[in-house]
Formats: sequence, C-alpha cells, structure tokens
Amino acid sequence: MMSRHAGQAVRLADYQPTLYAIETVDLDFLLSPHATLVTARLAIVPRDGTDAGAPLVLDGDGLTLVSVSLDGRPLAAEAFTATPDGLTVATPPARPFTLEIVTEIDPEANLALSGLYRSRGTYCTQCEAEGFRRITYFLDRPDVLSIYTTRIEAPVAEAPILLANGNQIVSGTSADGTRHFAVWHDPYPKPSYLFAMVAGDLALVRDDFVTASGREVDLRIYVEHGNEDRATYAMDALKRSMRWDEEAFGREYDLDIFMIVAVSDFNMGAMENKGLNIFNDKYVLAAPETATDQDYTGIEGVIAHEYFHNWTGNRITCRDWFQLCLKEGLTVFRDQEFSSDQRSRPVKRISDVRTLRAQQFTEDAGPLAHPVRPEIYHEINNFYTATVYEKGAELIRALKTLIGADAFARGMDLYFDRHDGDAATIEDFLACFAEASGSDLAPFLMWYRQAGTPRVTARGTYDAEARRFTLDLAQTCPPTPGQPTKLPVPIPVRFGLVGPNGADLDVTAVSGATVKDDVIHLTEASQTVVFEGVAARPVPSLLRAFSAPVVLDIDLPLEDRLFLLGHDSDPFNRWEAAQAIATVALKAAAAAIAAGGTSPETDRSFVSALGTVAADETLDHAFRALVLQLPSETDIAREIGSDVDPTAIAAARRNMRRAIAEALADTFAGLYDRLSTAEPFRPDAAGAGRRAFRNTLLDYLSLVPAGAGRMERHYDTADNMTDRLAALTALVFTGAAGAEAALADFYDRFKDHPLAIDKWFVVQATAPSDDTLDTVRRLTGHPAFAFTNPNRVRSLVGAFSMANPAQFNRPDGAGYAFLASTAIDLDPRNPQLAARLLGAFRSWRTMEPGRRAKAEVELRRIAAVRPLSPDVTDIVGRCLA
Ligand code: ARG
Ligand code: ZN
Repeated sequence: MMSRHAGQAVRLADYQPTLYAIETVDLDFLLSPHATLVTARLAIVPRDGTDAGAPLVLDGDGLTLVSVSLDGRPLAAEAFTATPDGLTVATPPARPFTLEIVTEIDPEANLALSGLYRSRGTYCTQCEAEGFRRITYFLDRPDVLSIYTTRIEAPVAEAPILLANGNQIVSGTSADGTRHFAVWHDPYPKPSYLFAMVAGDLALVRDDFVTASGREVDLRIYVEHGNEDRATYAMDALKRSMRWDEEAFGREYDLDIFMIVAVSDFNMGAMENKGLNIFNDKYVLAAPETATDQDYTGIEGVIAHEYFHNWTGNRITCRDWFQLCLKEGLTVFRDQEFSSDQRSRPVKRISDVRTLRAQQFTEDAGPLAHPVRPEIYHEINNFYTATVYEKGAELIRALKTLIGADAFARGMDLYFDRHDGDAATIEDFLACFAEASGSDLAPFLMWYRQAGTPRVTARGTYDAEARRFTLDLAQTCPPTPGQPTKLPVPIPVRFGLVGPNGADLDVTAVSGATVKDDVIHLTEASQTVVFEGVAARPVPSLLRAFSAPVVLDIDLPLEDRLFLLGHDSDPFNRWEAAQAIATVALKAAAAAIAAGGTSPETDRSFVSALGTVAADETLDHAFRALVLQLPSETDIAREIGSDVDPTAIAAARRNMRRAIAEALADTFAGLYDRLSTAEPFRPDAAGAGRRAFRNTLLDYLSLVPAGAGRMERHYDTADNMTDRLAALTALVFTGAAGAEAALADFYDRFKDHPLAIDKWFVVQATAPSDDTLDTVRRLTGHPAFAFTNPNRVRSLVGAFSMANPAQFNRPDGAGYAFLASTAIDLDPRNPQLAARLLGAFRSWRTMEPGRRAKAEVELRRIAAVRPLSPDVTDIVGRCLA
C-alpha cells in the first residue's frame, strides 16, 4: 500500500480501519526556530486480522527524516522507504513493537500555519485536519487513538512557558539555568489532530472552576504580555460555558487543568486540542474601546464551541473526516443553544439564520455545494464549510424538533454513554436517537447525504362554510454537483394559524400528515394537511423559528405579510415577514434597474409598518434593529438566482434604504436622540441591543440630511468600539466630508491594536464606491498590511471579495483579477488561506454573461498556474466543473 498523496480523491465508500494501532506516543521536542528536532516513540500493535508483516504506511508532509529505529535498533536502509510525504516499513514484526522516528522541522519557515509554526515568536501547533504529519510520520487520521506524553525543551529566555495536552508531570532546568523542559501527559486516548504544544513568552490569566461533582479545575488563558486585561470576558465566557454544559447536557470537564492560548496568526477561529485550546486572538481579546458587541458575542460563542468539543469531538471523535459534521454540526448546535440561553433566543435565532442564508444557502446554490456529510473529497481543509458547520447544526435542531425535546435528551445521553472513547459515525449518532425515540431515522439520513437547499411550497385555502383550512405542501431540491435528482427529506414545519385578532386559532382536527403539537412532519414530496374547525380565515405562519433549513415559497399577499409582521406570536416570523416583503420588492426593483429603468417606489404600508416596529417600546432594541435591516445584496442575488447584476441589486437596495430613511427621518431621529443618553458600556444583550438599534437608526439617518451632524458627533462621543465603528462606517460609506479625518483619527488611535486596525481595513474594503478596488490595492502596500497574517488578509482581501458584492463583481472584471492574482501570490505560502479567499467565486455562474465570462477567465488563469496547491486546485476545479 502506498500512502495517499495530497490532492488525491478520498472516498467514504473506501473506508478501512488501519492495519496497526498506535497505543502510546512519546514526543520529544528540542525547540529551535529553524531546526526543531522531533523524536516520536510510537508503541505500535498490529490489529486483529492484520497479515503478518503487512507494510506499515505512515503519513508525512514535507518532513526531513533524521533517523528511524525499531525496538531500539536503527532500521536498515532496505527495511523502509521514506520521502517527505510518507514513511513505509516494509515488513514490520507481527507483534507489538516500538518505532522511534526523528524528524527535523523548520517552524519559522512554516507560513502555512499548519503543523508546528511560530506566531510572533510563540511556537504553536495546528494539527486539524492533517497537520500532525507535518511534525512527524504518523497514522494521521481520526480513528487512530493514542495516549500522548510530550516533552518540550527550549532555552528559558526564549520560551519560559512550555505547554502540551493534559497535565504537567515533570519539569526541570539545566545546571546553568539557561535551558528547561516540561513533560505533559494526557490520560485520554486521542487522535493526532487533537495534539497541541505551545512554547513562548506569554502572560497568564488564571481562574478556577469547581465542577458539579467537585473537581477543581485550574483555568488558564495565555496571552501576549500587556493583553492580560483583555482576557477577562473570555474567562467569564469559559466559566459560563462549563456550567451550562453541566446543566444543559450533563457534561463535566474531565482534567484538572484547562488552558487557552491566544495567538495572532491563525487560519481559522480556534482549535479544541485536548486541555489546550489554541485560539485566534480575535476570539479571546476584548476591551470596550477596541472590540465591538459582535466581537464579544463571537468570543462567547467560540469559547463555548471549543469547550463543548471536549465531549462532542474529543471524548467522542470522528471515525473519518467525512463525519466532520458529527463533531462540528453538533458542537455549533450546542454553542448556539448556549448563546440563546445567555442572551435572547429570538435574536440569536434571527442572527444565526441570517448567517446560514448568507453563507450556507449561497454555498449550496453554487458549484461548491456538497452534502453535510460529503462522500468524496480531494482536500479536507476545504470542507470546514458553512454546510458542514451551520447546516450541520440545523440538522441537529430539526432532529430535535421532529422527535421532541425529551427523546432528543435521551438520545444525547445514550450517545455519550455508548460512544465515549469512540471514533464514531453519523449512523452511530442517529441510531441513538432512533432508539431513544422509537422512530425510524433512515429517511433523516438523506439530509446528510443530499446537498442543496430544499424548497417547500405552501398553498393555503380557507373554506369558510366548512370551517376548513387546507394546506398543500410540496418539497423539491435543486440538482447539485454530482446529484442530479433528489429524494424527499423529513421536514419539520413548525406552524400556527393566526386568527384575525393576532392569536393562533385552535385547531380541532387534522388529517393528511403527522402533526405533533405545532409541528407538521412533511415527509413526502407533497402532502395536503386539512385543518378542521377553523373559526375564521387564518394567515398561516409557517416554519416558525426557522424549523428547518429550507427555502419557504408561500405566496402570501402583502396584507397578510404585514399582518404577520405586526402580530405573529413567533418573533422569528415577524422578522421574516419584513424580510419577505423587502425581498419581493428588491427583486422587482433590481430587475427594473438592470433593464435600464428606475426603482419602483417602496410600498408605503411597508415603510409605515417598519416605523411602527421601530417605535414599539414593547419590543427589545436588538429585535427592532434586525427588523429594520434589509436583506443583504448577497441574499437578493441568491433569490434572483441567474443573470445577476450586482450593480443593479446594490442600487435597488440603496434606493429602498433611502426611501425608508426619507419617509421615517423624523421618527428615526427622535428615537435616535432619545437613545443618546450615555449609559456605561456593558457587553450584555441589553447594552448590545441598544447600541445595535441606535446604530441602525444612524445608518438610516446617514442617508438623509438629518445624518450630517449626527455621524460626526456619534464618532467623537463614542466610548466603545461598536459605536465608533458604526459612525466610521456611516461616514466612509456615504462619502461624507468627515470620512478622511475619521479614518486618520481611527488609525492613529488604534495603531497599537491589531484587531482594531483589522476593522479599519474592513471599512475601506467594503465601501460602496467605484474607487474601492483602487483603495484595496493601495492598502496592500500599507505598512500595517501583511500577507502573512490571516486576520489582516481576511480584513482586506476577504472583506472586499466576500462582503462587497457590487465592487468585487465589477462589470470590468477587475475585482476578479485582483482576487485571482492575490490568491496566486499567497498560495505557495498559505494554501488554506488562498483557497478560502477563492470561495468568493462560488457564485460566479449566477452572474450575467459579461461578468461570468470575466470570472471564468480568471478561474482558468489560476488553474493554469504550476505548482498549485491541492487546496486551490480543488476549489478552482470544482468552481469550473
Ligand atoms: N475544529 C476547529 C473548530 O472548532 C476547526 C479547525 C479547522 N482547521 C483547519 N485547518 N481546517 O471548528
Ligand atoms: Zn468546531
């Protein structure tokens, strides 16, 4: 057997367990910036049934082998073959043996940020998904679980802090005091992707936590010196997460120490390494002057997410990478539930659905669409997607809605009981819920296997005489790459029939589909549900709380939608009613503009309904802010679906925002001014909601004369980043006279705070101006810009290509050319980041022919580059397929 080489197809259907198990792993790191020596002693055991002497094939990636010995004796040259990308022992003994491998690696030169690398002098690791093989040769896959002991040695001055997974068991210093070492032992078997080590000169923030059963846990957050004060919120979020997991899922922490290390250079959000989480510092550090409310909620959510992985991911891991959603979808679901409990459930739900639609629905509608559990991949790093994470979480929620909260809780308990210590599959997971609920979940598995967003069509008819309401429901799912036809999936449709007074009507009898409480189980391609004893003509409120990740197509008249916006008892559907009204109008307006006409007028009844919501003091501020925010340009584009003209969409949206601002200027100004009384900053839901509402009002006011003085004042008087950034954005986006001065002030004020400077780049990259691309190009040469820092690259290049559709999709194709060139430059250094940026091309086929042709030219230009990483080859290949 040969080791697979990078970029080669891997198929779920080909899964085989390894021939050998690795029971223990002893690692020894002799740290040096350019020449770190890694000694790995592996206790290897042939699995039952393995043929005597079957070759042992270990993965590697860019490794330099120093030596290899078996049971203490150097292996003869003919006994093994080693390349940078693999090591094969031709005929190992047919009994347990120890393999000792010494490799030499160069952390300083590791700009891919996978494996062992340095971030501003700190040694750190990122091993998920396949980074461990960049440290030593190994069976680098999630179904090989081993006990790790890690020794780290380094000069004291360079790395006073030495960390690895588990508990520190030994440490010592050389006689002259210049070198020291630490040995860490993790008692829990784990796959290699959960391995971590950190060494550097870091400051420590400490706290403690006592678990429900009385275990005292030492909590440590390591940050760069000077950032200690900024870790307070993260620590608080960690303690709340630990308590919540005990209360909501009965899960306790299982080691005596839990560490988080914040680093500045990180490809993703964070990583759940056992006992030693490593974080992008964006998700740890916060202070009111430098972090927005969105940053605070991000920190709370990611801290919780990584902590929750300790059970859903670490204690129970994945059999193979196809099962990634087993840990990610489930853990996102858990962090979403946590945040809902900590803040406002409806507001959290609306925010999550906005993200789901913007990211996952868009992904699902293009060439990068894939099932929540894919069946083939070429580069696993490209599958850490909105589909696996966010749709994966929606499936857990839909499952819970279908089987009920009690059966769901029993299923989770059974899963933890039965699979603790396992590397499990989606089938294993679903079997627990099938058993707990006594239902057949085979049809539910289709949700994991089929890509694409199902479309549910609903048509209601009311027969006044018979007091009968008939609801025709049908589901379809569009073709996606490799899946031309689809089967129906079980869709929970949470509903209410809203009567004339705004209350849900009592429904006495139903037929045509399973209806449990307020949930219709739509399981067939089409079903007709008949409600009897319906006293008055109802307005159906369907898919309440967004009970399934589908597109709902219901042709309610405007009056009915306005009625739901005003009266639905389900806050999600009140918000959704406004979104639906705006979407219909914006599509029509974009079509008119694209055809050379002008925007039709915005419906007055809709505008006044928005005014009513804005002024309704019984509604919380955060909710009002969400209702006032129109669907994004990306959402409108996806709804249009083909021959998209992003310029026309931006114009339609701008016109509608201006029409709303003009009609409601007095209302908005009055509300804004009443909210302006200073209150001390608190990052909680109430404070954040108040700021979100006030900043949304400012955003509208910025479009009318009333905004002029208010924007500058908002900027000057801000005592927190949320307000200051909102004002800066309004000034820059409207091209106001004060914009340049505010940008200069902002830079000067925050030049020592990289995370704040990231925002300075984002504002300029997302400005709705035809000059933006020039600005972005110029900013790549700014002294504060660096292609080696992923946060910086995402803030400039990522924000421009993902969050500024009209400018990225410029009709002259210059946005595409810029992204292509940038990705080509970046690819040799950091292929994961390059591939991720190129995700911006995922909607290229939906563009009008002119843009489509220009995007294709750029995609082909990238595809022709040699060498090209497997990461970029995969994304570009799928985009062009
Ligand atoms: N498991 C991490 C999380 O919590 C994500 C790590 C992904 N890293 C990568 N290079 N693909 O979501
Ligand atoms: Zn995760």
